[in-house]
Amino acid sequence: MIDPHEESIDFDTEIDRTVVGALKHDPEVMASVFGRSDLWASWVADMDFKASRPIEEALVRRAAHGIFGYESDNPQLPTAVANWYAKRHAWQFDPGHLLFSPRTLTSLAVLVDRFSEKGEGVIVQPPVFYDFKLIVNANGRRLVKNPLKLEQGVYRMDFDHLERVAAAPENRLLILCNPHNPVGRVWSKRELQRLSEICAANGVYVIADEIHGDITYGQGYAPLASISTEASRNCATCMSPVKSFNLAGVANSMIVIEGEERRSQCREWFSRFEINKNNVFTTAAMLAAYTKSETWLDQVIGYLKGNVDTLCDFLQQRIPSVRLVEPEGTFLVWLDFRALGLDAKQLASFLVQEAGIAGNPGHWFGREGAGFARINIACPRKVMLTALERLEKAVAGLG
Ligand SMILES: Cc1ncc(COP(=O)(O)O)c(C=O)c1O
Repeated sequence: MIDPHEESIDFDTEIDRTVVGALKHDPEVMASVFGRSDLWASWVADMDFKASRPIEEALVRRAAHGIFGYESDNPQLPTAVANWYAKRHAWQFDPGHLLFSPRTLTSLAVLVDRFSEKGEGVIVQPPVFYDFKLIVNANGRRLVKNPLKLEQGVYRMDFDHLERVAAAPENRLLILCNPHNPVGRVWSKRELQRLSEICAANGVYVIADEIHGDITYGQGYAPLASISTEASRNCATCMSPVKSFNLAGVANSMIVIEGEERRSQCREWFSRFEINKNNVFTTAAMLAAYTKSETWLDQVIGYLKGNVDTLCDFLQQRIPSVRLVEPEGTFLVWLDFRALGLDAKQLASFLVQEAGIAGNPGHWFGREGAGFARINIACPRKVMLTALERLEKAVAGLG
C-alpha cells in the first residue's frame, strides 16, 4: 500500500543527529577514530535522512499505547517480508522459513559457528566489509581470501582462484556480499550462477549477506537463492531493512535457509541462547517498512542516484585525479585515489587532515583496498558538495 503523504519527500534538509547520539556524528567517537571531530561524517553506513512517514507514524502509534510488555510474534511480518521479496526481487520463499535475528552481524556469526568448525577456512572476497574478517577471527576460523580483480574500472570475482581455494576440504564456507560493500557491484545472475556452481561442487556452503539488496541503480539485484534450486539449497540468505529503510537502531535482521536440516540447526541455536524474542518497536517499524514504504524507498534511491551522478560529474570536472568506481548499488561509494601517489597511511591522514573527510580508508577492507576510500553519500546533496569542495582544495594543495 502506498502512503499518499510520500508524494515528494525532502532529503535536502540537514537534520542534527548529534542530539540523539548518532554514532556516525558523535564527536567523541569521531575524535577517537580519526583524531578530530570537525569532519564530514561519511563513515558509518546509515543515512542522514528521516525514515518514511509510515514508519515514524507506526512507531509513534506503538509508543502512544504505553504498555510495552511481551508480545506474541506478529504473523503478518513474515508474510510481508516474503511478499516484498517476491514483488521487488522475484524471489519466492516460504515465510515459514524466515528466522529473525537481532542483527545481520549476529546472523553471520551464528551461521559461521553452526556450519563450520574451529580452524576451518571461511572464504571472503576482499576488498570487503571488514566485519566479515572480525567474525571469522572471533570465531576461531581461518580467513581465506579470494580477492576481487579490478578490470578496466570494474570489479570481478576471480573464479579460477575461487575454484582452487574452494577445492581445499578444510574451506567450508564462503561469505558473499551481494551487493558488494564497499565496491558497489550488484553481482549478475551469471556471476552468481558460477559462484554457486563452484561452491556446490566443492561442498562450500554460502552465507549470502544481502543487506544492501534493496538499493540498486539500474538493474535490480538477484538474490543468490533465486538463481537455481541448487543455489537455494546451498546458501543461507541474510537480509534486513536496516540499510534500505534506515532502521539500524530499531530493526531486526532475517535469515532464509531453504535446506531443512540447516534451518533447524540454526533455529535451535537461536532458541538455545534465547535470541528469538521480538521487540515491539521492531515489529511496528518493519511492518510499516515492508507494507507502506515502497514509495519512500523508490524516492530515496532516486535521490541517492542524483548524489552519485553529482559526485561523478564533480570528480570528472574538478578533481580528475580521483576516480569514482561507479556503483551499481548501495549508498557507499568507492573512490580511487591511487593517482595521488600516497601510501595507505598517507591517504588516511590526507583525508582527515587535509580534506576534512571522515571516510573509510580502503585498507580497512583488506590490503586489496589500499589506495581507495569508501564514503557514504546518503546525506543532503549540499553537505556532500561542501565536502567535495574541500577535497578539491586539498588535492590542489598536493601540487
Ligand atoms: C554488508 C554488511 N553486512 C552487515 C552490516 C551490519 O548489519 P547489522 O547492523 O544488521 O548487523 C553492514 C553494515 O554496514 C554491512 O554493510
